[in-house]
Amino acid sequence: MVEIREPTVEEKIRRLRETREQAKLGGGVKRIEEQHAKGKLTARERLDLLLDPGSFNELDQFVVHQCTDFGMAERKYLGDGVVTGYGTIDGRLVYVFSQDFTVFGGSLGEMFARKVCKLMDLAMKTGAPVIGLNDSGGARIQEGVASLAGYGDIFFRNVMASGVIPQISAIMGPCAGGAVYSPALTDFIIMVDKTSYMFITGPDVVKTVLGQEVTFEELGGAMVHSQTSGVAHFIAKDEEQCIQIIKKLLSYLPSNYLEDPPYVETGDDPNRTDEELARIMPDDPDKPYDVKEVIHRVVDNGEFFEVQPLWAPNIVIGFARLNGHVVGMVANQPAYYAGALDINSSTKAGRFVRFCDCFNIPIITFVDVPGFLPGIEQEHGGIIRHGSKLLYAYCEATVPKITVILRKAYGGAYDVMGSKHSGGDINYAWPTAEIAVMGPQGAINIIFRKEIAEAPDPEQKRLELVSDYRRKFANPYVAAQKGYIDEVIEPAETRPKLISALEMLSTKREPRPSKKHANIPL
Ligand code: HXC
Repeated sequence: MVEIREPTVEEKIRRLRETREQAKLGGGVKRIEEQHAKGKLTARERLDLLLDPGSFNELDQFVVHQCTDFGMAERKYLGDGVVTGYGTIDGRLVYVFSQDFTVFGGSLGEMFARKVCKLMDLAMKTGAPVIGLNDSGGARIQEGVASLAGYGDIFFRNVMASGVIPQISAIMGPCAGGAVYSPALTDFIIMVDKTSYMFITGPDVVKTVLGQEVTFEELGGAMVHSQTSGVAHFIAKDEEQCIQIIKKLLSYLPSNYLEDPPYVETGDDPNRTDEELARIMPDDPDKPYDVKEVIHRVVDNGEFFEVQPLWAPNIVIGFARLNGHVVGMVANQPAYYAGALDINSSTKAGRFVRFCDCFNIPIITFVDVPGFLPGIEQEHGGIIRHGSKLLYAYCEATVPKITVILRKAYGGAYDVMGSKHSGGDINYAWPTAEIAVMGPQGAINIIFRKEIAEAPDPEQKRLELVSDYRRKFANPYVAAQKGYIDEVIEPAETRPKLISALEMLSTKREPRPSKKHANIPL
């Protein structure tokens, strides 16, 4: 009689260890080498870089797909193409999923999706950010509608999590077809230059349907989405920098909407004044300057983490700290289009203002705006619809809102850019501020057309009227007399003024009318 021996405890533990080791190989050594040859790290190597050493706890490492079609029953890989779990970044809890291109090209099937959904559900229950590292061929073709359902389940969770926990997407390889919509529903997208791309329909389909030849890079590369489409918020030169950007971004964000963003002792004097600020502003009001210089000089240690720096540069957005507290900065940039608001800049800043409002980040606005950009392209492109997004976002936001008018605040753009009327809590103006319905030239041409035409020397008359108008309206004092500006401040005292206003507003609560949800003009 053959004796049947049950495995010992030691053998069972050894088997577990071997299985774990096998899972770590994903699609196998050869595919890992192929991944490296493309200049890409593996899903696990990326997590090693992202998370605090030894903090990663993997979940669902042994999950495999249940598909039997197309010979799939014989092709199973532990983990099914995505590494999921939780860990810490700078000691703070985060949930991560990292798509593994070495397994079926990182394509998403039913079980893969279930793993991601499980993670997102945990993140929602515990109130911590979700970070997705994307590198995938999209819906797993062999699994058919189950893949589409999987994507749909993730999309639904992306929407439920929106405004509850920060969601960050890194694109580190392909991200194609409907798969793009999960990152698109998250708060921030970081793309790696040259090795990542995002598009709804790829170059082959574009060629078939439109007869146009286009490369992956030209259609949906990192530069295209950072500069032209505005889909990406950051571009990284390589994967290491991409991971650094994620960590930096997280350092400004709370873990969920019930928390305040992390306070950091920065060592910068809250009472620091800066005479140089006045020198940045040219004497000629029509000359440009770089508003980022103003931002750098005002915020703690000159550290400004700009978001979407390459897209719609006529408005500048990003995170900084004032006396250690995180703020969202929004500033018109006179160096581009004279700082005029257009479709892209309105959308860019509108979304940023809403993000800050979701996560308790006060908004500081620096205004120098000659108005909305005129032209057929803008009007036909829907500047009315898009411009209203920014107006809507400011009015809707209930976080502390502090505005400084540096120079021009003309027309509707005055109202939009964090004015008293769109709910600004404290509104400052520099003595260089010009607040009026429109600039002197345009205004004079409209209201004194007849007088100018009939004058013996029309050009002289125009100059006199412009000078008169400038004296009367191109200053902050009319608005200050009406209380629309709370205080006219010297440029040098901007930092201490902002910090004391922030402190005063730190307990701000501003309830809004009860409703199901609002209807932002999309
Ligand atoms: C199943 C896939 C796959 C997919 C790639 N693979 N994409 N398997 N479903 N969607 C597999 C390949 O068969 C291959 O397996 C391995 O992954 C590596 O792929 P390669 O093609 O060899 O790699 P590469 O040359 O780098 O090309 C990468 C790629 C290409 C550009 C992503 O694989 C590709 O075009 N894939 C299809 C992309 C796509 O159209 N996906 C559907 C999008 S629509 P073997 O075993 O042969 O090595 C979509 C809808 C979502 O996602 C809808 C949500 C609502």
